[in-house]
Amino acid sequence: MGYKLVEKKEIAPKIFDLIFEAPEIAQHAKAGQFVIVRVDEKGERIPLTIAQKFDRQIRLVVQVVGKSTEKLSKLSVGSEVEDIAGPLGNPSEIDEFGNVLVIGGGVGIAAILPIVKALYEAGNYTNVIIGARSKDFLILMDDISKYSHNLIVTTDDGSFGMKGLVTDAFRSLIKEGKEIKIAWAVGPVVMMENCSKVASEFGIPIWTSLNPVMIDGTGMCGGCRVEVNGVIKFACADGPEFDGRYVNWEDLKKRLVQYKEYEMKAKKFNNRG
Ligand SMILES: Cc1cc2nc3c(=O)[nH]c(=O)nc-3n(C[C@H](O)[C@H](O)[C@H](O)COP(=O)(O)OP(=O)(O)OC[C@H]3O[C@@H](n4cnc5c(N)ncnc54)[C@H](O)[C@@H]3O)c2cc1C
Ligand code: FES
Repeated sequence: MGYKLVEKKEIAPKIFDLIFEAPEIAQHAKAGQFVIVRVDEKGERIPLTIAQKFDRQIRLVVQVVGKSTEKLSKLSVGSEVEDIAGPLGNPSEIDEFGNVLVIGGGVGIAAILPIVKALYEAGNYTNVIIGARSKDFLILMDDISKYSHNLIVTTDDGSFGMKGLVTDAFRSLIKEGKEIKIAWAVGPVVMMENCSKVASEFGIPIWTSLNPVMIDGTGMCGGCRVEVNGVIKFACADGPEFDGRYVNWEDLKKRLVQYKEYEMKAKKFNNRG
């Protein structure tokens, strides 16, 4: 059975907001979980976080970075993808903690939306920091602000909100005397690594959603190996969220660049074909 694309919008340069008809997934999805999309029979598998669920539909926000995400972004409304598997991964561990902090960077802002919503609905005071390169890349701000008690926006170039990085805003919050019980950070690897360093400094547990290359998404292929606290884990089956204070970030960064050359070739070939 195919999955129909019912809405599509480019919400920032090369970032697409996609709504798919997927009733089974919508029924079971929880904050922090993801799906694996295959555009066509021969297509690569694309893991994408479920940004929102509706009665019969799911919302995915995809940034075009290579061959498969480009193919996905070019689909027209009304057409179908071959497969969407999920929901996959463990849901975020939501509880009533009190004062919480959720940080989203770049396309990671979409991934924190369900986490912020779930924490808000569980009765927490939600401090939220979202950051992007510039104003044009700030996405889903209205959706996020609905569930944020205290929303701080940063841009690298100062074109909107506070000029600086999300970690600067994180430090400012702590300086103000906010006692954060637990934090989440989702975004580029270097952002999650640096947020984890700040959290470590202040003894705050911090969930980071790891994004190693995934193949089957079921814990069988070993493709998404990550090292946490000296132990090998599979991000798809044991995660995707792990306490960033204990993640071996160097190893994750090395694994992510391993495939670069092959992917560049695939993209060039795709653009010719
Ligand atoms: C659990 C999880 C959730 C994710 N959620 C989102 C999301 O909500 N929105 C979004 O835009 N992106 C998300 N990503 C990243 C997204 O899956 C990759 O950008 C995409 O697969 C790239 O495919 P490509 O062929 O376009 O690019 P390629 O040229 O093949 O690769 C570009 C880069 O994307 C990454 N990548 C490639 N293939 C995979 C793969 N199979 N699994 C994971 N990473 C890969 C690598 O870092 C690679 O260097 C998520 C990744 C994971 C693991
Ligand atoms: S993607 Fe295969 S083990 Fe995780």
